Amino acid sequence: MILDFGSINMDLVMVVAALPRPGETVLCDGYVTKPGGKGSNQAVAAARAGARVAMAGAVGDDGFGQVMRATLAKDGIDTSLIATSERPTGVAYICVDAAAENFIAVGSGANLAVRADQVPDDRLTPDTLLVLQMELPPEENWALLKRARVRGCRAILNVAPAAPVPESALRDLDLLVVNEHEALSIAGTLGLDISTPQAAAAALSHTLDLTCVVTLGGAGAIAVGREADFAVPALPIQPVDTTGAGDTFTGVLAAGLDAGLPLDQAMRRASVGAALACLALGAQESMPTAAAIDAALPRLGPNTPI
Ligand code: RIB
Ligand code: NA
Repeated sequence: MILDFGSINMDLVMVVAALPRPGETVLCDGYVTKPGGKGSNQAVAAARAGARVAMAGAVGDDGFGQVMRATLAKDGIDTSLIATSERPTGVAYICVDAAAENFIAVGSGANLAVRADQVPDDRLTPDTLLVLQMELPPEENWALLKRARVRGCRAILNVAPAAPVPESALRDLDLLVVNEHEALSIAGTLGLDISTPQAAAAALSHTLDLTCVVTLGGAGAIAVGREADFAVPALPIQPVDTTGAGDTFTGVLAAGLDAGLPLDQAMRRASVGAALACLALGAQESMPTAAAIDAALPRLGPNTPI
């Protein structure tokens, strides 16, 4: 069972010919609202991949909040731990250009009102896989992680967006999911080897006694940890919108591990899921089901030892 403690945003997405530079105004046809937020994206990705998922977070007492609750429930996610805050539902302003490059600014709103004590102890059991990101107040993340650890849960942290993580929290994790930049930055703050992302991942894994997964965008991902060290390729695609690809990777990976898959197989499903999620606008609409991942898996190249 996955417990995702994370952010819930409504994404306001604009497709522009070219991303605006600082001080520049660009026009486009209009905008679309798409469910998002790293927490909610990862919950939906995991649920579509077949996991039982509960989401703890917060929305505002507003229309976006109602839509977000309904969207999560539609994917079979338990929304009973989602609080209603006096702050507005979080929003993200997202511009996507013709080359699928994006920029994102998040107005956190209700996400800043999320508290670890929204999650009662009886939700933290040894079969719970806790999934965390970096869009909630960090001290609430670490407070829940500590409680989860004491109660025997497994825990995954996706350090996105990049932010400092205390060493004590890192030591409470089973799995760290980072991109290249985040891998180097976390290893750097611990005074570890940052000559390459792979060296940083190895140093993090060894020092913190966890598995470190580094996502490499179109180059796939690597895993370094207690199981074998290996690289997973990416599925070749023409991306339309990469928003939420990293979230899909983490959510599908969590679903695989929760289902008891070995890491190498869970990573392959995550890689395929992340690629498929880039084929349409919006973070969640294009996230694949388990059946869609199964259908695309044969097209993924082999894992390679590193
Ligand atoms: O990772 C993508 C997500 O980041 C978007 O859905 C947006 O809401 C921001 O949180
Ligand atoms: Na998408």
